[in-house]
Amino acid sequence: MSPPRRGPGPWALAPLLALGLLGCGAGARRALDPAYQEKYFEQFLDHFNFESFGNRTFAQRFLVSDKFWRKGKGPIFFYTGNEGNIWAFANNSGFLVDLAAQQEALLVFAEHRYYGKSLPFGALSLRPGNIQLLTVEQALADFAELLQALRKELRAPSVPAIAFGGSYGGMLSAYMRMKFPHLVAGALAASAPVLAVAGLGDSCQFFRDVTEDFYDQSPRCAQSVQDAFQQIKDLFLQGAHDTVSQEFGTCQLLSRPKDLTQLFGFARNAFTLLAMMDYPYPTNFMGRLPANPVRVGCDRMLSEAQKIRGLRKLVGLVYNSSGTEHCYDIYKLYHSCADPTGCGTGPDAKAWDYQACTEINLTFDSNNVTDMFPELPFTEKQRQQYCRATWGVWPRPNWLQNNFGGGDLKAASNIIFSNGDLDPWAGGGIRKSLSTSVVAITIQGGAHHLDLRSSHPRDPISVVKARTLEAALIHEWVEAARRGHQPALHGGSGA
Ligand SMILES: *[C@@H]1O[C@H](CO)[C@@H](O)[C@H](O)[C@H]1NC(C)=O
Ligand SMILES: *[C@@H]1O[C@H](CO)[C@@H](O)[C@H](O)[C@H]1NC(C)=O
Ligand SMILES: *[C@@H]1O[C@H](CO)[C@@H](O)[C@H](O)[C@H]1NC(C)=O
Ligand SMILES: *[C@@H]1O[C@H](CO)[C@@H](O)[C@H](O)[C@H]1NC(C)=O
Ligand SMILES: *[C@@H]1O[C@H](CO)[C@@H](O)[C@H](O)[C@H]1NC(C)=O
Repeated sequence: MSPPRRGPGPWALAPLLALGLLGCGAGARRALDPAYQEKYFEQFLDHFNFESFGNRTFAQRFLVSDKFWRKGKGPIFFYTGNEGNIWAFANNSGFLVDLAAQQEALLVFAEHRYYGKSLPFGALSLRPGNIQLLTVEQALADFAELLQALRKELRAPSVPAIAFGGSYGGMLSAYMRMKFPHLVAGALAASAPVLAVAGLGDSCQFFRDVTEDFYDQSPRCAQSVQDAFQQIKDLFLQGAHDTVSQEFGTCQLLSRPKDLTQLFGFARNAFTLLAMMDYPYPTNFMGRLPANPVRVGCDRMLSEAQKIRGLRKLVGLVYNSSGTEHCYDIYKLYHSCADPTGCGTGPDAKAWDYQACTEINLTFDSNNVTDMFPELPFTEKQRQQYCRATWGVWPRPNWLQNNFGGGDLKAASNIIFSNGDLDPWAGGGIRKSLSTSVVAITIQGGAHHLDLRSSHPRDPISVVKARTLEAALIHEWVEAARRGHQPALHGGSGA
């Protein structure tokens, strides 16, 4: 069923074209509807302790579709959910659907504990004492337990499974393969910043790469953005608070130094989102955005002679996509947190803040030298102070690296690390293949995990090729697992 390997190697498009999965021209291809069913699984609260929570459980949400599954035989494509409502990831990962149709797979999207509706202690999940069970390790154990329970329930005990994920979910899919190689035959880790989050990155990298996206679009745009920030700062320091608030359109009068910091964080976050979501067609993933939002943002910036007004219009792409905000309530629309790339708002944002205060290291800052943004430092020391004050926890140095290897993945196998060169997260990920089966793919002109999205007539050719290679590798891993690739236990070495 899946593409036979013929033609000039893994890049051959013929098999997918033959299956009608890569149609040309608008409307050539209709999105497949997997008709997910939403279900709940009774999951252990604490996988690593037999006393404090005993065998108490909570309801973990997951989505499942057997629409394309060759029952009892086809593989399981298992999305390791990340920091949000699982539907958001399912709705924006159409590649899994296309691939499931092609390879006759069962589709599963598992929600991450403490997000969406998978709340271990209901509305009280974020309370001290309750939040302690929010760790990467617990989440992976949830996925392992759910996967095995599904295999049992579906009477498919030995069908191969592949883990999929994007961003933090991509990290989880890679870790899943490392920790549970007997349960998943491989992983597609799309835009997974496994190095940066383990403290192996460069703190200037993220906002430098966001800046580069805008600079590459138009050097004049990047310069205007920097000038706008400077004008805001100058006016503010001169005491012209009314002018700043009016020109930028904030709801409150900004006058305290902390208001300026908040305004800068609020504005910078819009650039982060535009760079991450710089897809070639309109999307509604982390907000409703037009096609090529970086270009649209620069057009807005440069359409105003007054630079602060230009900046106001640009950030409106993110904060005023409805066109109905009369003013920006900068404290409501943006919450600063332990993740300087933004946590979002609402309960999911708080859970992510806790993760950024514990295992996930995101000490990125902007400096107005290697990037176009105002100086907004976020040092390990600031992180420690914030995390102690907010959650009563200290980030632990090196734990993530010690537990998952950082970039030292010699012992790992069957993982694809894909990254788009427009994505500011790419610089924190694995960009070079580490072995024949730990493979890095770069998608030219690709934003944040573009490869996980459904194919689209406006896709750059690089993502079409990336998906074809991914499909071929996944097919290979599934077939190898089917053949029972583990070397037989025939003696020889003694012991
Ligand atoms: C949990 O433990 C109790 C005994 O304390 C036992 O009766 C029950 O069956 C256990 N439940 C599960 C799901 O193992
Ligand atoms: C996912 O898509 C469904 C169907 O289009 C829609 O009803 C739902 O609101 C979407 N959910 C999210 C979180 O995007
Ligand atoms: C987090 O990463 C930075 C480098 O980006 C490093 O300096 C810092 O020590 C790390 N923090 C911890 C707690 O590991
Ligand atoms: C950025 O750096 C320039 C040049 O040093 C300076 O003039 C400007 O005020 C700085 N901008 C901000 C927002 O700090
Ligand atoms: C939001 O968009 C509307 C419509 O373009 C505009 O009138 C309004 O001023 C914008 N809000 C802000 C705060 O800029």
